[in-house]
Amino acid sequence: MATATSGGAVEPSADPVPERAPSSGARSADVLVVGGGLMGLVTAWRTAQRGLRVAVVDPDPGGGAARVAAGMLAAVTELHYGEETLLALNLASAARYPGFVAELERVTGAGLGYRSSGTLAVAFDADDRAHLRELHALQERCGLASTWLTGRECRRLEPMLAPGVRGGVRVDADHQIDPRRLVAALLSACEAAGVVFHRLPARALRTAGGRAVGVELADGRDLSGGQVVLAAGSRSGTLAGVPEAARVPVRPVKGQVVRLRMPPGPAGSGPLLSRTVRAVVRGGPVYLVPRENGELVLGATSEETGWDTTVTAGGVYELLRDAHELVPGVTELPLVEVRAGLRPTSPDNAPLLGPTAVPGLQLATGHHRNGVLLTPVTGEVMAHALTTGELPEQARPFTPARFAAAGTTEPGRTGPGAGHVSKEPRP
Ligand code: GLY
Repeated sequence: MATATSGGAVEPSADPVPERAPSSGARSADVLVVGGGLMGLVTAWRTAQRGLRVAVVDPDPGGGAARVAAGMLAAVTELHYGEETLLALNLASAARYPGFVAELERVTGAGLGYRSSGTLAVAFDADDRAHLRELHALQERCGLASTWLTGRECRRLEPMLAPGVRGGVRVDADHQIDPRRLVAALLSACEAAGVVFHRLPARALRTAGGRAVGVELADGRDLSGGQVVLAAGSRSGTLAGVPEAARVPVRPVKGQVVRLRMPPGPAGSGPLLSRTVRAVVRGGPVYLVPRENGELVLGATSEETGWDTTVTAGGVYELLRDAHELVPGVTELPLVEVRAGLRPTSPDNAPLLGPTAVPGLQLATGHHRNGVLLTPVTGEVMAHALTTGELPEQARPFTPARFAAAGTTEPGRTGPGAGHVSKEPRP
């Protein structure tokens, strides 16, 4: 039942890689994408739609963090102080979601579990309430639609909430999608668009004359490409052969997630929850995401433990304890699955998009807690950058150059609190 997901598009290696262009004269693809998770696939799909020949390198495309993520599209309820620039990109992506889903469903014939039933953030004690009041004030200052509710109003919306709920914020614009269905649909859409898949890890970036010119595969074969995109999630910083000037400052932040099954309600009654419910309990957030297929996803820990993807008793205990405090009925539900995945996290929690200091090498990684939300806009931004060489206006703050200038380029660091199981601190 417990599963670990770390993603493996990149073969870990510490060996230096000499500059050597792929030996074959013919270009394998116009664009080589290292990583077949959400970012790699959406980049490949959108770029192939623009007429470029695209190949993806990944031993298990459609895997990685998308198999763990809860799929909240929470631009408003996950707003944090100081992240207003990121908010603009998050909102731009959220606005694209309905059209993006409709297009993917049309192309693939598969449903993606997109639900626009909204989100309710609730508070239990005086501290939680004060924190939620601050978040609500920040949302209002940013011009976002959110409504303050009393505890009674919260329970009227979601009758299974614990009686101790003291207030909440209703945000109708924060939706959800099933990331497993999304990543499977992107895989099909890529195949339909002619994207070629090389199903093994990348061993090294190939450069010639200071330019990225291809990728060496784990079996020793070389692929040449006009441009290379590193979209390997938390592993993006570990590909051998990437010149120092383009070092990728992404580290893994582990998240453990529990999946339960909600029985269909008796005739006339609804399911356990009708919308996403979230709260800050003892300083850490917990969320419950009810899917249309009856699954209830509880998330998530936030742990700075390097590449470890062990599912721990402590992590699962904290999730169930906090979720039970919010909705006591959850402990009656069948337990279906527990998983851990790794969020790819940059020093400022915002993504790294577009060209690097190494010509021919672009990034699509570092999406931290917002990967699913940012999928549509990342595809557009990357297709634009790969076809024009420039980032569109809205994505310019997310250039990898912002870290090159500050000198904060070391990958794989573990931050304060390493080894400590926690959920993300209060915003
Ligand atoms: N966006 C939710 C999480 O990363 O846990």
